[in-house]
Amino acid sequence: MKLLRTLIVGLGAASLVLSAHAAGGSKKAKAPEGGWAFAGPLGELEMDSVARGYQVYREVCAACHGMKLLSYRNLGEKGGPFYDPKYPNANDNPLVKAFAAEDEILDPNPDENGDPVYRPARPSDPFRYPYANEQLGRAANGGAYPPDLSVITKARGKGNDGDGASYVYSLLKGYPDPDTIKTREGEDGQRVNYIKFDKGDTHGTLIQPIGQYYNPYMAGDSTAQWEGDPRHVPYGGFLAMAPQLTDGRVEYMDGTEATVQQMAYDVAQFLHWAGDPKQSQRKTLGLPTMIYLLLLAVLLWFSYKRIWRNVKH
Ligand code: HEC
Repeated sequence: MKLLRTLIVGLGAASLVLSAHAAGGSKKAKAPEGGWAFAGPLGELEMDSVARGYQVYREVCAACHGMKLLSYRNLGEKGGPFYDPKYPNANDNPLVKAFAAEDEILDPNPDENGDPVYRPARPSDPFRYPYANEQLGRAANGGAYPPDLSVITKARGKGNDGDGASYVYSLLKGYPDPDTIKTREGEDGQRVNYIKFDKGDTHGTLIQPIGQYYNPYMAGDSTAQWEGDPRHVPYGGFLAMAPQLTDGRVEYMDGTEATVQQMAYDVAQFLHWAGDPKQSQRKTLGLPTMIYLLLLAVLLWFSYKRIWRNVKH
């Protein structure tokens, strides 16, 4: 009896999970063609891409997103995109100093009258935060709070092989082509944006709520906005972030052509680096350490054999 009950409860739970899956679910994030160079124990970050990604972050994302766990000096430290052996102390690195000085931040210490002091940032300061507090951040973004991006690739992916970077990459370039988004007048005279789907099994119209943007890689469920076959609801959901990247949105310092694909790739790799800025050092230390341990093991084996050679056991 008890067994039967457990079985029924188990089956019930399983069918719930299955039906939830059938209704929603986002498209699985894809790594860029050829994969990430940093994946695997011997993989290495492409530092010029990380450097370009910082430029994208700075010129595009930083208007809305902060990165509380990073300081300007991290950019110029060993394993960082602007590391220069001429400046072992990143606080002296002129490029890092220049990046910091272009941002105005609120000094943690007020002046002698207790009034807030704004000043250019120094390499030792944390990245400038776009909002004084969460409420102001929400007010500026129609109620949604742009999450801090310091560890976003860890929060949205597992492991260190680029799951999270693939998510950011897919999300940024995964918005539908703007030409496919049409506007019609709703019943109450309000303008409604919608997207027509006509591919494979998915035929119908997806209504885009005001201030929300459809993205197939965003976790969520678009059933309520779907006018079409309920068995074939489009993948994904809506988020309050409009598409951010268009070709030529930044002008890369190194002359690389700034396509949407390139910027999404670079900023995703930058965010992967930012989630663990010391990863390349750890990896370069890791391999020699493994080789050393292996040699040590061989040596120990032979000395063990030698020491106990004439002892019966
Ligand atoms: C105009 C403001 C704005 C800009 C610029 C912007 N974002 Fe966002 N972003 C948002 C908002 C608002 C949200 C929260 C969306 C929500 O929760 O519905 C968000 C959410 C996100 C998320 C989280 C999605 C999730 O899984 O929850 C990521 C990742 C992200 N942004 C990355 C970026 C990157 C990278 C850039 C720069 C290329 C960028 N954003 C630029 C406003 C912005």
